[in-house]
Amino acid sequence: MKSVKVKKQTRALAGALSFPGDKSLSHRAILFGSLAEGKSHFTNVLPGGDCVCTKEAFESLGVEIRTHSPTELTIHGRGLDSLEVPKKEIYLGNSGTSMRLLLGVLAGQPFEATLTGDASLSSRPMRRVTDYLKKMGALVEGRDHANFAPLKIRGGKLKSIEANLPVPSAQVKSALLLAGLYADGKTTVTEPAKSRDHTERFLKYFGGRIEEQGLRVSIQGGQRLEAREFRIAGDISSAAFFMAMALLVPGSALEFKSVLDNPTRTGVLEVLKRMGVRFDNYRRGGLGGPEPAADFSLVSQPLKAFEIKKEELPPLIDEIPILTVLATQARGRSIIHEAEELRVKETDRIHSMVSTLSTLGAQIRAEGNSLFIEGPTPLKGAVVNSFKDHRTAMSLVVAGLVAQGETTVEDIECIDTSFPGFFELLKQTGAFFQTLTP
Ligand code: S3P
Repeated sequence: MKSVKVKKQTRALAGALSFPGDKSLSHRAILFGSLAEGKSHFTNVLPGGDCVCTKEAFESLGVEIRTHSPTELTIHGRGLDSLEVPKKEIYLGNSGTSMRLLLGVLAGQPFEATLTGDASLSSRPMRRVTDYLKKMGALVEGRDHANFAPLKIRGGKLKSIEANLPVPSAQVKSALLLAGLYADGKTTVTEPAKSRDHTERFLKYFGGRIEEQGLRVSIQGGQRLEAREFRIAGDISSAAFFMAMALLVPGSALEFKSVLDNPTRTGVLEVLKRMGVRFDNYRRGGLGGPEPAADFSLVSQPLKAFEIKKEELPPLIDEIPILTVLATQARGRSIIHEAEELRVKETDRIHSMVSTLSTLGAQIRAEGNSLFIEGPTPLKGAVVNSFKDHRTAMSLVVAGLVAQGETTVEDIECIDTSFPGFFELLKQTGAFFQTLTP
C-alpha cells in the first residue's frame, strides 16, 4: 500500500500549471476514434488507468491504436460495423465510464462479449444501462438481473426506444445514444437535469447528426462517423484540486492553462464564485476540437460558505469531495442537498468524506444524502485512508496541506486512475510531501 505524508503548507504555492487530458474527453476520443472511419489523431490523451482500460478494450475489439507516447494516439477507426469478437473477457478496472459506454457500443454488435472490473466497479449499478439495452433488444446477463459485472452481453439488431432517465447521468445517456447509432429509427433520451454533454458534442464533431431540445437528445440509427484530429483540454476535475490549494494555502498564486471550459462541467467554478472567489486573467483559448478550454489564475483568498441544490449537482458531481474540503475552511455552514448519486461512485463519497474529514477534526455530517459542513474549522493532521477512490485521495492530500501537523493519506495508488502526474505537479507548485512505498 502506497501512502503520502503531507505537512501543513506554510510556504506559498506558485506556478503555471497544465493538466492531463480530461478523463471524460479521453474516453470518448478513444471510443469515437475507434468507431469512426479513417485515422484519428489525439494529443494530451489522459494516460490514467481508466482510459487505458478503454483503449485496451477497443484494441481487444480489433482496433489498431498506435501509441506515439502515453498521451499521443493514432487510432485506425474500423467504422461502426467492423469490430471483432474479443478473444477474452474485457477487463475495465475501476472505470464506470468505460463499462457503461462500452455496453452501449456492444449492444449493437452481432457477437458476445464479457465485461469485468475490479471490486469497486463490480459493485456499481449497471441496470440503469442494461435495462434499457435489453428493451432495445440486446441480451445481457449478470448478477441481480444484469446489475453487476461481470456482464455478458450479446448484441445485434436493435429497436429504438424513448428513455426517460430517473437520474441525470452522462454515462447512461451516452450508452443509449451509442446504442441508438445501431438501432432502427430514432432513439430519444430525456434527463431530469442536464448532465455533461461530451457525447453529444463528439457525435456532432465526428460528423454524426443528433437533435437536441432542452433535456431531450435524439439520434437516428444507421449513421457513419468520420475520423478527426485534436488536442484534448486539461481535466477540470483534476484542476479543481489545485484550485483548492491556490485558495487555501496563504499567499499562493497559481495559473491554470487550457482547462476544459464546457458549461456542463464548470459547476465548480460557479460555486467558487458564490464563495466570493475572484478569477483573474480569465481567457477562453481555442484548442480546436469539440470542446472549449480556458486559462485563468487564482490567488489565495477568504471563502464564504455555499449551498448546492440537487438540480445543481450534475455539472460538479465529481468535485463534491474537494468542495467538502473547501467548505471546512469557508465562513458559515455549507450545505450540499440530496447528493445520493455520490453513494454509487468509485466509493460512497458521502461516507468517505464525512468519515475522513471528521478524523481530521472537521465539523461535517450527513443527514440522509445531504451534507452539512461548518467552517472555518482548524483541521488536525491524522492518518486517513482513501477508500481506494482517486478523488477522495486527492481531496485528502489538499486537506493535509491545511491541517496542523502531519497528515498521512493511505492507499494512494488509485490517484493514477484519473491523474497520473499528480505528485509531480504538486512538487512543481512548491508543496512539501513525501510518498512512501512499502
Ligand atoms: C462521466 C459521467 C459522470 C461522472 C464520471 C464521468 C462521463 O458519471 O461522475 O466521472 O464521462 O460520462 P454519471 O454519468 O454516472 O453521473
